[in-house]
Amino acid sequence: MNRLASFSPGVCRPNSRSAPFAFVLFACTACAAPTFDFSERWETPRRGMVVSEHPLATEAGVLILEQGGNAADAAVATALALCVVYPQAGNLGGGGFAIWVPHDTGEEPTVLDFRETAPAELTAEHFVDEKGEFVPRRSLDGPLGVGVPGSPAGLFALQEEQGRLPFRKVIQPAIRLAREGFPVDPFLARALAQSRTRRRLLQGGMAGEVFYRGDKSPGAGEVLVQPQLAHALELFVERGPDVFYSGIIGQAIAESVQAEGGVLRAEDLTSYRVNSLSALVGWFRGLEILTVPPPSSGGVALLQVLSMLDGFPLDEEREAAAARAVESGNPLPPGAAALSGRALHWWVEAMRLAFADRAEHLGDPRFVEVPLYDLLSPERISRRRVSVGELANPGVLPMQVRARESNDTTHLSVLDSDGNACSLTTTLNTSFGSGFMVPGYGFLLNNEIDDFAILSGIPNTYGLIGGRANAIEGGKRPLSSMTPTVIRDGGQVVRMVLGSPGGPRIISSVIQVILRKEVYQQSLADAVGAPRLHQQWNPPYTSLEEGWDPQLIQRLRDRHHEIRVVESKMGSVQAIFCEVGGDPVGVSDPRRSGSALAER
Ligand code: GLY
Repeated sequence: MNRLASFSPGVCRPNSRSAPFAFVLFACTACAAPTFDFSERWETPRRGMVVSEHPLATEAGVLILEQGGNAADAAVATALALCVVYPQAGNLGGGGFAIWVPHDTGEEPTVLDFRETAPAELTAEHFVDEKGEFVPRRSLDGPLGVGVPGSPAGLFALQEEQGRLPFRKVIQPAIRLAREGFPVDPFLARALAQSRTRRRLLQGGMAGEVFYRGDKSPGAGEVLVQPQLAHALELFVERGPDVFYSGIIGQAIAESVQAEGGVLRAEDLTSYRVNSLSALVGWFRGLEILTVPPPSSGGVALLQVLSMLDGFPLDEEREAAAARAVESGNPLPPGAAALSGRALHWWVEAMRLAFADRAEHLGDPRFVEVPLYDLLSPERISRRRVSVGELANPGVLPMQVRARESNDTTHLSVLDSDGNACSLTTTLNTSFGSGFMVPGYGFLLNNEIDDFAILSGIPNTYGLIGGRANAIEGGKRPLSSMTPTVIRDGGQVVRMVLGSPGGPRIISSVIQVILRKEVYQQSLADAVGAPRLHQQWNPPYTSLEEGWDPQLIQRLRDRHHEIRVVESKMGSVQAIFCEVGGDPVGVSDPRRSGSALAER
């Protein structure tokens, strides 16, 4: 039985660069499935844990934990180190979302929204030619794709508000990696050698100076030193985040973007604010899911899908699939999930419905009314669930309501020894963002403007379409799919910290890891490593990674699902699971080359 939702208003709280206006978001307590007995309480972890997409960034975070920092300090140290060692997505010139969940302090979990904003003068007209036709890639490759960066203000605010150590200590590992250099890993070497990346980065000359020797990309193991970036990071310590907005780096950002034909002005930078928001809250099988509200669509879609699936008999279906496997004489291998075509059909249809709502209703809530109450109402979700039939339904429509990420984002998860959690996703949008580097300061600017629905019906780089809610407006934040999430045991104790890169595949990746862990009882490593699928309403087909059981694929086809098996990988989940009474377990997705490390 689903429990009735309770709603509590949350308000935008002021912080050092917070918005000069207040608006109300609603935290939704979506449905909870059967009540679980939590008399055996999770203990707080004895050792902190960091998981990120680069071992040197993970190491930086752990070092900060070992120096007495908490999860916020370690998350910021890891994110800053990623700017240096993972320039595809780690950034000063992009933005993101972080969720901070303190343990037993009596304080509420907080979301920091440091998403980029559109320059005031930017309009959809900038992306069409004289004939009024959409110009592909203008929002991705050129200066017009650059949104006002949120990362310097966001990372600083997170550390200042929640951290324990001085900022200069937390930024130190990143400065050292930039000044002294680090060995290029095979993943970065491959990315820089790709012809399209090379062309984009060499175009402006600046990134070429930093990453290439002439036009030669560095091989794996070669040491990459970034003195300009080290200088920018040192200025960050000396002058605080304002240096990127009203200071000399901000000036360089505005001047260089304008010199290339962009419309980002000094006033766009000085008016940038980090928003401090209430976490979006829902329940799944007795667990409390804490995640991010709009302007990311990730949290809403995650809660919608989990809520919808909560009402399907997933446990019965799992047990029946396991029994069938035994009867057939092919018992499931250890660690495998007992999946069935019927259960996968529910997963896919729930995603389809959530992504239909995403396209129609979600955008920056400071500019459009986002009908969170309707989208997360258990009653409405039940109605949507009932609408799911036995066959695929590509014709679903967005919910009628009363109120009328290449994949190179990156995610990091931290849990400290006091049980505080920080889940942070940050991005330049596509790999290496706009490819446009701020002269003299060695960091790349984002191409987040492509996340707007630039023209109605024209898909963005992730194939996502949208409408009015996510149309470009000056000062507005483009809709995101970032889904940094923390799950608590129903009380104060953190059970899971997770998130992923991957554009819209962030949402499906996070959903599937939660489902595999909580419904199919896979180990965290198996849940993260298992093949994924993705459905985003438009285009109507469902993509599957390689590695799915062909019989399950056939079962989906039998239900009229259009299936495309794709070579590319979906997401890169960085997750921590806190075992009962033990140390936390961390898993960095085997799809990429990150690492999980506990305090020593
Ligand atoms: N830029 C990818 C996202 O925010 O979803």
